[in-house]
Amino acid sequence: MASTTQRTFLERLLLRKSVEQVQRETENSQLKRTLGPWNLVFLGIGCIIGAGIFVRTGNAAALHAGPAVLLSFLIAGAVCALAGLCYAELSSTLPVSGSAYTYSYTTIGEFAAWIMGALLLLEYGLAASVVAVGWSGYVVSLLGDYGLVIPPELTGPYGHALVRNGAAVLNADGTAVTTLFNLPAFLICAALAALLVVGVSESAKVNNFIVAVKMTVIIAFILVVGWYVIQNYDALKGNWDPFIPEPTGNKGEFGWDGILRAASIVFFAYIGFEAVSTAGQEAKNPKKDMPIGIIGSLVVCTILYILVSIVMTMVVNYKMLNVPDPVAVAVDALGADWAWFAKIIKVGAIVGLTSVVLVLMYGQTRIFYTMARDGLLPSVFAKVHSKFRTPWVNTIVVGLLTAIAAAFFDINTLGDMTSVGTLAAFGIVCLAVIWLRRTHPNIPRGFKVPLYPVLPLVGIVACFALIFTVETRVLVFFGWYVLGAIVLYFVYGMRNSRLNKGQEQLDSPEMPEFKEDAPDKR
Ligand code: ALA
Repeated sequence: MASTTQRTFLERLLLRKSVEQVQRETENSQLKRTLGPWNLVFLGIGCIIGAGIFVRTGNAAALHAGPAVLLSFLIAGAVCALAGLCYAELSSTLPVSGSAYTYSYTTIGEFAAWIMGALLLLEYGLAASVVAVGWSGYVVSLLGDYGLVIPPELTGPYGHALVRNGAAVLNADGTAVTTLFNLPAFLICAALAALLVVGVSESAKVNNFIVAVKMTVIIAFILVVGWYVIQNYDALKGNWDPFIPEPTGNKGEFGWDGILRAASIVFFAYIGFEAVSTAGQEAKNPKKDMPIGIIGSLVVCTILYILVSIVMTMVVNYKMLNVPDPVAVAVDALGADWAWFAKIIKVGAIVGLTSVVLVLMYGQTRIFYTMARDGLLPSVFAKVHSKFRTPWVNTIVVGLLTAIAAAFFDINTLGDMTSVGTLAAFGIVCLAVIWLRRTHPNIPRGFKVPLYPVLPLVGIVACFALIFTVETRVLVFFGWYVLGAIVLYFVYGMRNSRLNKGQEQLDSPEMPEFKEDAPDKR
């Protein structure tokens, strides 16, 4: 390899970690191989099912796709499957734990890894804020059922008119109630960050329990509401007429344009499946089980999501669904006799959403931690607390960032930014597969993406096509974000990279290894 001074600019940007180096850096993990295919599927589902289905489906149906939101789920699921196959190939080829950040560092090089780090901040950090806002919606709704009212000004993002049941909420003087900040969303982020600082995190058993709660709630919803729809089909079938509402003429509002726009919204509902690829070192038979875990969890969730969207848009008109708790609104349509069921759904959603916020925040702290050990972030992000043995400064920073975003921004803007960032990250993962096949054609691959290079190429095109369906203002914001990340690379990352200085990752011997029964840790 060329020495630091001899490298050309391009060589510098493409500076790669060797597979052997990453192996050395991760080999002290000594994780036991305890996870079979079903554990991996459950691990995926644990991260996947959250605010996407419990919250964002409502907005996607009400404002963009109508009942055809189920087609949006199919499209988004297909895009994720393409990226999922690429994740499966990388995880079975590169025996490294870690996220797409490490894959990028080992394949395309440091600059791509840095950009991936910035994108993952959207995929994990910002996604945690989105799910926290969704959590807040269900908590406010459930407390309201018991007569506990949080001041409405403290239940939404800064400067938004509060809307309930499709109508603006008014003050006594007739003016619209404007929200100041989302207190419950702020508090849940802060509380979970505090738990992560003292080292409370989920184990496989807790994960399996929470997955069981989420699946039970969703399957019960499908069965109960589906049964009601079948019983009252004649009265309700009008809700599906038209199935694809006429386009309004505005970008992304109904028609096929709207279906694609909704696909980028409900894409959020699939984020998290790639967590399976981070458990490579804990899988009993990673070559076989990784693809099963990734694709299996995607298939299960796609089926559940489509069934939920069918019954939801059948039982109420899609226009009613632009609310913080659309699943509960659908149950309310069954009548007062089913009020108890709506409450159970809300409790299940709150439990499930809590765990997703926790897992996403955890993932974000570990990405920052790895980047800091590589010298790409200040070393304080890799500082481990002497008593709790957790990266506490890093966790507090992540907690504050997610809490502030959740408190002041609206869920649609946050969710769109997350989708765009994740789509770009998935595009890079598809590119990494092609890159690695060209640079290392002969290294053993446990799993190979079928129909290479067509599927990874289609994956790249599909990810970027969906990116361009979001609102222009979000695209502009995303453009500035990436530009800022690039500037920061040249100002900080490039100069401080330990790889560039010929040094290995910063040692952190006191950092705890993941609990053996905690597969959901990256
Ligand atoms: N897919 C996860 C959710 O929907 C992030 O909450």
